[in-house]
Amino acid sequence: ARITLRQLLDHASERGYAVPAFNINNMEQMIAIMEAAKACDSPVILQASRGARGYAGDIMIRKMVEAAEEMYPTIPVCLHQDHGNDETTCFSAIQNGFTSVMMDGSLEADASTPASYEYNCDITGRVTDMAHRVGVSVEGELGCLGSLETGEGEKEDGHGFDGKLEMDQLLTDPDQAVDFVSKTKVDALAIAMGTSHGAYKFSRKPDGDILAMNVVQAINERLPGVHLVMHGSSSVPQELQDMFNANGGEMPQTYGVPVEEIERGIKFGVRKVNIDTDCRLAMTAAMRGVAISNAAQFDPRKFMQPALDEMQKLCLDRFERFGCAGNA
Ligand code: G3H
Ligand code: 13P
Ligand code: NA
Ligand code: ZN
Repeated sequence: ARITLRQLLDHASERGYAVPAFNINNMEQMIAIMEAAKACDSPVILQASRGARGYAGDIMIRKMVEAAEEMYPTIPVCLHQDHGNDETTCFSAIQNGFTSVMMDGSLEADASTPASYEYNCDITGRVTDMAHRVGVSVEGELGCLGSLETGEGEKEDGHGFDGKLEMDQLLTDPDQAVDFVSKTKVDALAIAMGTSHGAYKFSRKPDGDILAMNVVQAINERLPGVHLVMHGSSSVPQELQDMFNANGGEMPQTYGVPVEEIERGIKFGVRKVNIDTDCRLAMTAAMRGVAISNAAQFDPRKFMQPALDEMQKLCLDRFERFGCAGNA
């Protein structure tokens, strides 16, 4: 059954858990998430980026989610637009059955420049106005994702801001967050705290200098009832890096967001945790394993099934560790 982000995160807040939001692009990722959710009786947030909608097509995304609901009738499903960049993207998502949209006004629509605060408030407020009229939830973002180690935006990611950011852009300001939420009426707030998208987040296991959990705590103190969202929250597990590299991959040593830090965040009001990279890495490491151990194999199902299984394990672990299991 379809539910909104607001309904789901209100429940999470009452019970003190967070919901992992996994990105979907294809059938195998969808089934991996749904099987994991079924195994532990968890609600799901399925999120599709603009890239995912272009890759699979809006009709395919819409029908895949309908199929998932029919196959897993006991699992509440929130379908969320990840990083909507303008009103048109958010509107067309709603037309395709999304029950939640992210209006990411932290950057200008083409990601060429960090947006002004006024721009972000205006565009996010307009989307919230429109979405709330039709019963759809909205996530906004205040602050820019990027590295506190280097001050860089998201060069390697391809769609974030490619350039230097100031400290006050890299860390969400708690006072501004209060003003932003009251002006825009967003249902959930994504914050900047030193995480970035993709595999290369940190050059060492992060401490408080480069992963600012204190900012999450400070925002939660000012906005105790507001649902917070952590982006760039893959942990890039060492085991998956090792599996990928043992199977012929070439991924330089890197560090993600430790799951323990996310668990701390959940105590500070984090209710939605975005994870894409870990799912990609799990699937690709498994596919490489098949390719290297059986070079004669050419049935794609023999690649996809182990990939699906590896992603399912990852999803199950996150449902359990975020306290989401048992809440369907
Ligand atoms: O925003 C980042 C998500 O991982 C989606 O990535 O735009 O390559 O689908 P994507
Ligand atoms: P990761 O790249 O850390 O998985 O982050 C995903 C994300 O934030 C999608 O919006
Ligand atoms: Na999102
Ligand atoms: Zn994100």
